[in-house]
Amino acid sequence: MSNRTFTMIKPDATGKGYTGAILDQIINAGFAIKAMKWIKLSAEQAGKFYEIHKERPFYGELVEFMSSGPIVAAILEKENAVADFRTLIGATNPANAAEGTIRKKYAASVGENAVHGSDSDENAVIEGNFFFSGLERF
Ligand code: CMP
Repeated sequence: MSNRTFTMIKPDATGKGYTGAILDQIINAGFAIKAMKWIKLSAEQAGKFYEIHKERPFYGELVEFMSSGPIVAAILEKENAVADFRTLIGATNPANAAEGTIRKKYAASVGENAVHGSDSDENAVIEGNFFFSGLERF
């Protein structure tokens, strides 16, 4: 089991000024930031990141949303990182997210759901490599 995961704070959350509060909650939950950047994706870049969802009906909407404003991308480290981070952020749809989770507190809808968290160790590596070179992490 790997001890790293990858996250993005999405354009809805950066736009509403939640970035600091979300990072606080992540750090207070025991995650160490190993790489981080504030960046705005082009539609092409967002489309490539979410290529795995290309056939889904919400793909176009997802790509448009993820390229609509700045995001924070980060690699996080903690024991059992992928599973623990998914617990911290809560269900994809904030309506189903547990009380106190990041999505419950800051997300508006299943599409605009404040944060991304990798769903496996393998995808955490792929997604981290999408945003960061070896020089940009430790
Ligand atoms: P994320 O964890 O970043 O990975 C895929 C994203 O697709 C997911 O978060 C949601 O933001 C989005 N998504 C999933 N289901 C839907 C849906 N039914 N409608 C719109 N967006 C969705």
